[in-house]
Amino acid sequence: MQFSSVLASPMLLLQLCINVLQHIFSSFFSKVCYWTPAKSSVSPDDRKVDECKIKDATTPTSVNYHFTRKCNYKCGFCFHTAKTSFVLPLDEAKRGLKLLKESGMEKINFSGGEPFLHEKGDFLGKLVQYCKQDLQLPSVSIVSNGSMIREKWFQKYGDDLDILAVSCDSFDEETNQLIGRAQGKKSHIDNLHKIRIWCQQYKVAFKINSVINTFNIDEDMAENILQLNPVRWKVFQCLLIDGENAGEDALREAERFVISEQMFQEFLERHSSVSCLVPESNEKMRNSYLILDEYMRFLDCREGRKDPSKSILDVGVKEAICFSGFDEKMFLKRGGKYVWSKADMKLEW
Ligand SMILES: C[S@@+](CC[C@H](N)C(=O)[O-])C[C@H]1O[C@@H](n2cnc3c(N)ncnc32)[C@H](O)[C@@H]1O
Ligand code: SF4
Repeated sequence: MQFSSVLASPMLLLQLCINVLQHIFSSFFSKVCYWTPAKSSVSPDDRKVDECKIKDATTPTSVNYHFTRKCNYKCGFCFHTAKTSFVLPLDEAKRGLKLLKESGMEKINFSGGEPFLHEKGDFLGKLVQYCKQDLQLPSVSIVSNGSMIREKWFQKYGDDLDILAVSCDSFDEETNQLIGRAQGKKSHIDNLHKIRIWCQQYKVAFKINSVINTFNIDEDMAENILQLNPVRWKVFQCLLIDGENAGEDALREAERFVISEQMFQEFLERHSSVSCLVPESNEKMRNSYLILDEYMRFLDCREGRKDPSKSILDVGVKEAICFSGFDEKMFLKRGGKYVWSKADMKLEW
């Protein structure tokens, strides 16, 4: 276009002036605000990572690694279901655990699915051994339904385990059957007592977990719990997680198990004489756990479903933890940090 023809058209002249002014302003602001990234180049995820890294606040002090989703039980309320059958190769799992240790992990809890199922408990045993002997973690624990644990396992790996939690939601066999906390007709409660004895014999602290739901809400478990004398009795209010035990894609429908906050409080009051009871309401549970799934991705439960981060094996702990939804204050408020090393416990051996 000829310069003379531009001058001849007032519209083109106006447009030219606007363009020049735009150029001057944008180059001025890009110099003054050089720290402001161009809108299109930074994704919300990248921004979240940057903000989180600047705060540098979250340490993975206590981690729950659900390395398998497979299970031999069918608890109707289960919130960690067999959506995949994937388990990491042992060396990869160890690499991830080392990364966590380097980021400040002090306690690891192995969970599932049923952790004693994969390679008949040997995979779990090797991880327990690695965490205690190689990584020297102060606390190594397991949560299990107890049905696959054999005395041989204690003989081989018991020394390296601090705490074993066994889940038991009822001391009535029929209720356990109705919940699905059973395999065939085998007694869940006889098994619990057997494991209690092994824990004492092999110097492992014994813990019990119970999920309070519509099937056991009226039960009085105080006497049985006092008899078993666990170091801790964790009492959970049955929790719904979309995509796990609620909603369209879920493998379980747990709505019929759900109890209200008031019902939960009444259960707690009925058991107020049990000093080892540690209550966990839905609110406390949602964001006060650091959960790693079978791919070593942190799961964020704040929105009522389990949103995965990238794997710590791909992006490292610092980046992945930004997507964990973990609330360190809530973790401390729920008593997440306690005497968790068996060396520091006054256990009656
Ligand atoms: C997912 S299980 C995995 C370990 C093992 N299979 C067991 O049942 O102990 C881990 C813990 O979560 C508890 N749990 C499962 N579903 C739950 C739910 N909907 N609400 C609260 N706790 C739940 C179990 O009772 C258990 O103590
Ligand atoms: S809660 Fe029940 S179904 Fe779920 S993993 Fe544990 S034993 Fe298996």
